[in-house]
Amino acid sequence: MNSYELNKIFGAVVGSVLAITVIGYISNLLVHPRQLEKSVLDIKIETAAPTAAAAAGPAEVPPIAPLMASADAAAGAALLRNCTSCHTFDKGGRNGVGPNLWDIVGNKKAHIDGFAYSPGVAAKGGQWGYEELNQFLANPRAYIAGTRMAYAGMRRAEDRANLIAHLRTLSDSPKALP
Ligand code: HEC
Repeated sequence: MNSYELNKIFGAVVGSVLAITVIGYISNLLVHPRQLEKSVLDIKIETAAPTAAAAAGPAEVPPIAPLMASADAAAGAALLRNCTSCHTFDKGGRNGVGPNLWDIVGNKKAHIDGFAYSPGVAAKGGQWGYEELNQFLANPRAYIAGTRMAYAGMRRAEDRANLIAHLRTLSDSPKALP
């Protein structure tokens, strides 16, 4: 290969680089690429900041006492179907997934000796008064963290009042209404 041929190769390379540059310049002039003001892929990444509700903790459960005077125990009896898959309610009834609940109103928490309560329920202390039952039945896990009672909660306050009014009758000596 002599220097003349080398020159030709060099010239061809330089020539094509030049051609590509010129073509690129011209096509830019013709097509006018525009930058979008805003990305089309507007992906919102939710930050893990807790919502106001979550930060404030579970919603407050209003007191049940004002509803107890007009509560309907018969209507509450029908609501037991929410519980009977796990609880019996007759005197001396067997424990199921959950403990027997005869005479539960006013009784101490974890009232059945020998039932395998969760540590949360076992350590809660105090009695199942009207307000305690109201809180627990509205949202079991909010009232006792780690409870094994796999029940989502009874949302309507009237339903809870009716149910608690019926639970009250399941006793040899029903507790006074609040
Ligand atoms: C899916 C099963 C299940 C359902 C449904 C259920 N429970 Fe329970 N319940 C349990 C278990 C299990 C426990 C024991 C909880 C623990 O130890 O954490 C319990 C505990 C309780 C206690 C505390 C008892 C004590 O001795 O301290 C009450 C009161 C109670 N349940 C009421 C109810 C009522 C009323 C309903 C219906 C509205 C209901 N439960 C529905 C499983 C259930």
